[in-house]
Amino acid sequence: MAFIKYEVNENVGVITIDRPKALNALNTDVLAELSAVLDGVDLDTVRALIITGSGDKSFVAGADIAEMSTKTLEEGVAFYRAGNAVMRKVETFPLPVIAAVNGFALGGGNELAMSCDIRICSENAVFGQPEVGLGITPGFGGTQRLARIVSPGIAKQFIYTATNFKADKALAIGLVNAVYPQEQLMDEAMKLAKKIAAQAPIAVRACKKCINDGLDKAMDDAIEVECVVGGACFGSEDQKEGMANFLRKKDDPLKVKQVAFKNA
Ligand code: CAA
Repeated sequence: MAFIKYEVNENVGVITIDRPKALNALNTDVLAELSAVLDGVDLDTVRALIITGSGDKSFVAGADIAEMSTKTLEEGVAFYRAGNAVMRKVETFPLPVIAAVNGFALGGGNELAMSCDIRICSENAVFGQPEVGLGITPGFGGTQRLARIVSPGIAKQFIYTATNFKADKALAIGLVNAVYPQEQLMDEAMKLAKKIAAQAPIAVRACKKCINDGLDKAMDDAIEVECVVGGACFGSEDQKEGMANFLRKKDDPLKVKQVAFKNA
């Protein structure tokens, strides 16, 4: 692949958008490679993913403006559809996905980060949806996810004014969960991913599905998702093993965390 690197560290997969000359901007080829790398993740061995950008300046500086600049109306709509399909693939990916935002996360970059389950960032990170300054809207889910993750009012202010904001603001509005010095970011992302990977994988995947699917539904229907998708964990070996382990070690319940769970 020309623009994506993929490495597996024990049971954590790390996807790096690697197009430094354009600050890792997303063109059609990068989007296609990102989609293909997700398709190739070994779900039997990998338990969590991290997405980051190459270098120490940019996560992803947006969709590729040079490529978009010549698009017709029909081509623009098709580009939004293609980008949105990849973002949705990240969002609904069976495993938890952590965005390690190592610099600019603008336009499509912020949209990629928002498609991930969890966002952490470096102190030099800059977020924003600057599209209206370019004469377009956010087109890879930004009008929808920013409003859902922060709040409609805050999202509207940032989007309507094309205002970029720094890591401390992103933390204050709940767009990211934590901010770290640049040199610690990947270690912290890996620590978080490994903590997730140490849990029962079928249960973690079920939690992702329950939360994501439930957010789109009224509470009664959302609770039903938890009963059906979450309740299905009782059919897994992990549930038998995890609970038996707790009962065996009940003099020291913390030991339950040491159980070796089987993968899904
Ligand atoms: N698309 C294409 N190329 C980009 C790019 C982008 N989104 N962002 C940066 N680049 C390129 C620059 O053109 C430049 O290339 P050259 O060296 O060949 O000239 C290179 O990356 C380095 O960029 P700068 O020289 O501009 O670096 P800087 O440090 O001065 O500024 C920046 C950094 C503030 C991020 C600035 O590059 C910038 O504003 N980029 C555009 C950000 C943006 O508007 N993103 C939203 C795009 S629209 C979108 O994403 C729509 C959607 O929702 C789908």
